[in-house]
Amino acid sequence: MRDVIEIQTQRLTLKPISMGDAPRIARFANDPAVARMITSAPLPYLQCAAEGWIMTLNARAPLGEDFVFGVHVAGEGLVGVIGAHKKRGGAFDVGYWVGRPYWGRGFASETLNGFVSEARGLGQLIAGHFVDNPASGRVLQKAGFVYTGETDEAYSLGRMARAPVKRMRYAPAIAAPAHDHAMALH
Ligand SMILES: CC(C)(COP(=O)(O)OP(=O)(O)OC[C@H]1O[C@@H](n2cnc3c(N)ncnc32)[C@H](O)[C@@H]1OP(=O)(O)O)[C@@H](O)C(=O)NCCC(=O)NCCS
Repeated sequence: MRDVIEIQTQRLTLKPISMGDAPRIARFANDPAVARMITSAPLPYLQCAAEGWIMTLNARAPLGEDFVFGVHVAGEGLVGVIGAHKKRGGAFDVGYWVGRPYWGRGFASETLNGFVSEARGLGQLIAGHFVDNPASGRVLQKAGFVYTGETDEAYSLGRMARAPVKRMRYAPAIAAPAHDHAMALH
């Protein structure tokens, strides 16, 4: 993962985030349906917020604790973001979003599968989703994550409130059989 420049899946290219991505990141993250399901996007989510986030990522790069990619569709541009961030204890926490115009096409599943195939080399992967976001739980399960049984709370800037989160970890050997959308198209 540390040397990965791009990840290619059947329909998507995962590329390092660049400042040119800020307008589309802001357009899609400035949506309560997205911002409320993640922790780090205040509403409204302005382009300057996206630019500040990208500057912070760039400044943190020497730490080697953040692996973040923009998700691109040919002819469209950036449609989402995925990343893994090192937590205390050493595990990498995986998070992602897809812009609302692109939901329901299997893009999150295809993104997560492609990302995990590289990120699994970092060590233990963990994830969490807000209890009121079962679609993300489904995406994570299909990619090989299992529930740990723990539920705690996380503060969402987009909600301006804490909300319960179900915790998961990557355990493909015991996860339900995955049905990769891209594979299913064959
Ligand atoms: C959750 C999110 C990533 C899904 O993106 P997507 O590209 O539409 O996801 P996919 O099409 O790959 O798959 C969605 C799956 O969830 C299922 N799903 C949708 N709504 C659901 C619901 N209410 N309950 C359970 N499953 C649901 C779909 O049927 C699909 O599963 P399937 O392929 O087995 O049919 C997207 O809605 C999003 O970005 N939401 C806001 C941010 C977010 O939630 N990020 C994740 C934080 S943990």
